[in-house]
Amino acid sequence: ALVFYVAFDGSQHEADVPVGSSVMDGAVNNGIDGILAECGGAMSCATCHVYIDDAWVSKVSAPTEMEQEMLEVVSNPKENSRLSCQVTITTEMEGLKVHLPESQF
Ligand code: FES
Repeated sequence: ALVFYVAFDGSQHEADVPVGSSVMDGAVNNGIDGILAECGGAMSCATCHVYIDDAWVSKVSAPTEMEQEMLEVVSNPKENSRLSCQVTITTEMEGLKVHLPESQF
C-alpha cells in the first residue's frame, strides 16, 4: 500500500509498503529519515514515533496498553501518536499518511 511520510519540515516522501509489514519497516526499507527504530521493532526503543494523520486515525487500530506506556516517554506525545513498528499496513490503509516528529528524543 502507498504510505506518505511527511517530515517535520513539511517535505513528503512516499513508499510502497507491503500489507502485513509495519509503517516503520516501510520507512527503514525506503531510506526515509526521521524514524530511527533502534530496537528494530521490538517495542523497546520508542524511536519510531509518528503521528497518524487526522484523516486516518479511525482506520488505524488502537495502541495496546504496552505501546501506550512506551508512548509516554516520547518527546511531544499527542493523541494521534503511535510507535510506527506497531502499526501494521492493511489493505484499507492505501494512501495512509503519517507525520514525523521533529526529533525522536
Ligand atoms: Fe523500537 Fe518501534 S522500532 S519501539
